[in-house]
Amino acid sequence: MKKRTIRLHCRELVEQINRLIAQMTLAEKLGQLTMTAADYAVTGPLITPVSEDAIRSGAIGNLLNLYGAGPTHRIQKIAVEESRLRIPLLLGFDALHGQRTVFPIPLAEAGLFDPAAWEATARLAAEECAGDGLNMTFAPMLDVSRDPRWGRIAESPGEDPFVGSAFARAKTRGFQSADLAGTNAVSACAKHYVAYGAINAGREYASTDMSEAMLREVYLPPFRAAVEAGVAAIMPAFTDLSGIPMTAHVHLLQNVLREELGFEGVLVTDYHAIAELLNHGVAGDLAEAAALALKAGIDIDMMSDAYRLGLPQALQRNLVAMEEIDAAVRRVLVLKERLGLFADPYRRGRSDVSVTAQSRALARDVGTRSLVLLKNDANILPLAAPKLAVIGPLADAGGEMRGPWGGAGRSEDCVGVLQGLTDAGLIVRHAPGVAIDTGDLSGVASALELCADADVILLCLGEAALMSGEAASRAYLGLPGAQQELADAVFEKAGGKPVVVVLFSGRPLAVPSLVSRAHAVLAAWFPGCEAGHAIADVLTGKVSPSGRTAVSWPRAVGQIPIFFGERPGGRPFNPKDHFTSHYSDVENTPLFAFGHGLTYGDFALSNLRVEPGNPLRVKVDVENRGARAAEETVFLFLNQKCAGVTRPVLELKGFGRIALAANARGTLTLTLPPPEGRAELFVGPSADLTSLLSLSI
Ligand code: NOJ
Repeated sequence: MKKRTIRLHCRELVEQINRLIAQMTLAEKLGQLTMTAADYAVTGPLITPVSEDAIRSGAIGNLLNLYGAGPTHRIQKIAVEESRLRIPLLLGFDALHGQRTVFPIPLAEAGLFDPAAWEATARLAAEECAGDGLNMTFAPMLDVSRDPRWGRIAESPGEDPFVGSAFARAKTRGFQSADLAGTNAVSACAKHYVAYGAINAGREYASTDMSEAMLREVYLPPFRAAVEAGVAAIMPAFTDLSGIPMTAHVHLLQNVLREELGFEGVLVTDYHAIAELLNHGVAGDLAEAAALALKAGIDIDMMSDAYRLGLPQALQRNLVAMEEIDAAVRRVLVLKERLGLFADPYRRGRSDVSVTAQSRALARDVGTRSLVLLKNDANILPLAAPKLAVIGPLADAGGEMRGPWGGAGRSEDCVGVLQGLTDAGLIVRHAPGVAIDTGDLSGVASALELCADADVILLCLGEAALMSGEAASRAYLGLPGAQQELADAVFEKAGGKPVVVVLFSGRPLAVPSLVSRAHAVLAAWFPGCEAGHAIADVLTGKVSPSGRTAVSWPRAVGQIPIFFGERPGGRPFNPKDHFTSHYSDVENTPLFAFGHGLTYGDFALSNLRVEPGNPLRVKVDVENRGARAAEETVFLFLNQKCAGVTRPVLELKGFGRIALAANARGTLTLTLPPPEGRAELFVGPSADLTSLLSLSI
């Protein structure tokens, strides 16, 4: 009954929309297929600064990069009350990890391994977006990323497709809620379809190429999960895959995404991507480029003006048919209807949005849980009320804590480390020593002077926020500028005094010597607006760290791409046999395996067992032998034996968390669909093979 009502509603809706399309001029149709930046260029050339007249005439039907209740209301009013057909605008913005309240970067947030938290931050971001008058966000970013040279790894859920899929579901639910038309919901736009993360040599905007098996096993699953979760929009990647740009990829967009995965929503290009088909060399002019994109099923042209300028010519040249344009317009109008915009275009954007005590509390909680304690020799941490010398260019850098996609978050709303430590009542003296990325060593001497008087030295080092994210590839993954020199000087000066490093970055940095010389290292990524408080909470022991790295940390750039899901090969490494897979100058293993992260507890796993059924119930006993309450994250991997095609050494199939008081024990249960054929199960705290319990099933 319910299904029939929905179908009826759909039929009525389509008829209603068809009637609207029948009234539209070609220019009005193309307006609906166009999305233009409101007033400034964020990530590309600003070709057509939008004028109110273009909205009024229906020439532009969607905008990006305009937010705020006032401005969005004004512009929506022009579309709805002054344009001939009164069609409301889609208003989109990148809220990758928060809108006004900035949460940890996605790579860091992935490390919570907590879908409920992933959903909660997306929900709050959606509420803030909707408050700002937006109805679409260009998130979640779902590119599996195994190459830390690529700056966009910061925006991603890391190296694993199982994690990426769980992240996709949680984020889609969070942004869209149960009711897309809700006043607090926005359309998610999963991106960048597909395989962008496998970019050649980690260099931004370069090509990608891979086998069908790799595409389907690694890069496609998060998008499949997003579609299953009902994602309303998807953005194809800038890149080409085996020579076919994703913006024109008929097979992957039409056959795979629309037909096989069943995606019925809106395809929005990336910024200027249709015009870039000329640079790719697959189109001779804008009309050809527009035709290629339309044929591939692209609905909205973001920032190329190729549909507006090129499709009229393409129609004349018979490169496209009006029905294809109508089909795209229909999908856009259906989305506007689903968002409730026809019923009430002003349902969002009713209040001015700001960071509140409540949103800060969530940012602090998630920020705290995203921090990964990589190393903690002799349990130097938590700090025992010491006098601290806080050295380094990232100690007093609140604005940097936003990371590369800070949404509409403001620098002044962000708490840096220094302020966080001071608020926690610690006695702190500070000197930056060097800037983030210059060679100037003139500040080092005064920084070293602070060491003498301190009990513990805290080094706040790493990347600036914009060293990761879009167009931020790096070939060297060491500390930028003169920070390594500063660190070396501090280690010398410190003698045996404890040196704790707080490392900020949008990617794992290859800093083995820094790690080996420090007593403790906390990977802070970019924790968002409550960074300083979150870091202080962990350093002081108010909270036990629980974040895990969602990506393998290389020892050296030459190991990249590095990930745990490798196939065994015919000559897996054997230290006793030279002719097995290895480097002659570095170990095969990462410096820190996927899933690594210490706590202030001391966990031991035992008694791995499987209870039959579908799914199987995999149980493991967990004991916290430590003196502090803490939370342990446990991963479930599978190794499939004797398959027709060789399977990875480890495939992630589940993860779970268990919080235990000091000296407490408990049992964690994970579920697993029964594997086909022989398999070995592995359960443990990371993908480090030496840390795992195993069982043949
Ligand atoms: C370019 C980026 O690739 C994409 O992720 C983003 O959504 C758009 N610019 C819009 O800002």
